[in-house]
Amino acid sequence: MQQLTDNFNRKFEYLRLSITDECNFKCNYCLPDGYQRSHENEFLSHQEINHLVTAFAELGTKKVRITGGEPSLRKDFSDIIKSVSLVKGIRKVATTTNGYSLQKNAQQWFDAGLDAINVSVDSLDAKTFHLITGKNIFQKVMDGVSACVAAGYKQVKINSVLMKGLNDQDLALYIDWIKTQPIQLRFIELMQTGDNETFFDKHHLSGMWIKEKLLAEGWTQQVPLSHDGPAQIFSHPDYQGEVGLIMPYSKDFCKSCNRLRVSSIGKLHLCLFGEEGVDLRDLLAEASQKEALKTRILLALEDKKESHHLQSGNTGVTPHLASIGG
Ligand code: 5AD
Ligand code: SF4
Repeated sequence: MQQLTDNFNRKFEYLRLSITDECNFKCNYCLPDGYQRSHENEFLSHQEINHLVTAFAELGTKKVRITGGEPSLRKDFSDIIKSVSLVKGIRKVATTTNGYSLQKNAQQWFDAGLDAINVSVDSLDAKTFHLITGKNIFQKVMDGVSACVAAGYKQVKINSVLMKGLNDQDLALYIDWIKTQPIQLRFIELMQTGDNETFFDKHHLSGMWIKEKLLAEGWTQQVPLSHDGPAQIFSHPDYQGEVGLIMPYSKDFCKSCNRLRVSSIGKLHLCLFGEEGVDLRDLLAEASQKEALKTRILLALEDKKESHHLQSGNTGVTPHLASIGG
């Protein structure tokens, strides 16, 4: 089978596919003024998504994460989950959600074929959660997380973007929470994007202090598995859950990159940062275009750079991560 690899020996079996840019939250690091439509393009149709995922699967993609914006704002979200999960070769379908409709839909999405779910919970304090996301629905999101555990998902992960002065006091609460919950907490370093420079300067916090604290408190870093991607994972015998650290500003972060991204308007992005994307949309209309589509994807990968150069202030053209699925 053909394989998606690049010039730096990285293998790409993981596709992050955005199905909408729209979001109903106003996270202060992402869409502080809420979502505003900035283009006239329609988001990929259910059928285009099928053609796209089929081509990627034939190039060796095994896992698809459906992202947004907020993917569940699409009325056909369950149908999309179902058809992606039925594509030959796709072994795992995951999504990342802000949790808004999780309580209501966790079971339905599971039944449609969703294997794994990441929920953004940026604070365990209801007021701070409101302040960060613009939504006063902390408890509803937490009930949604419980609904996922109850529904039987193989993997429930919680994303929390680290922000100095906002949620850095919550660490003890987070760690307590996973003592009895089989949840992977993922602390993500705030990334600078085109739109959030001032916010970034004020709130960026390295994840290194968490790593040092965990190691001092008896947590051990797991040997990375090939499909882990850039997260560093820690476990502890007394805790059911795990902690993952995502530190994009650390050295060698990009070495373990294992993912490609396609935006909600059908552009292939080789990296979150710094490039325009390769348009695939003209090859998504008909199943008969599949071979041409595969050739274009393979050709694009030859251009994938070794690193994102975020350290040197490069934000590329990415205004905020809602446009490309985080
Ligand atoms: N820095 C770090 N993480 C971000 N996300 C969105 N924008 C940023 C940013 N600037 C995260 C969200 C969510 C995931 C989709 O991406 O919090 O957990
Ligand atoms: Fe929406 Fe996610 Fe951006 Fe928050 S981080 S505004 S939930 S897209």
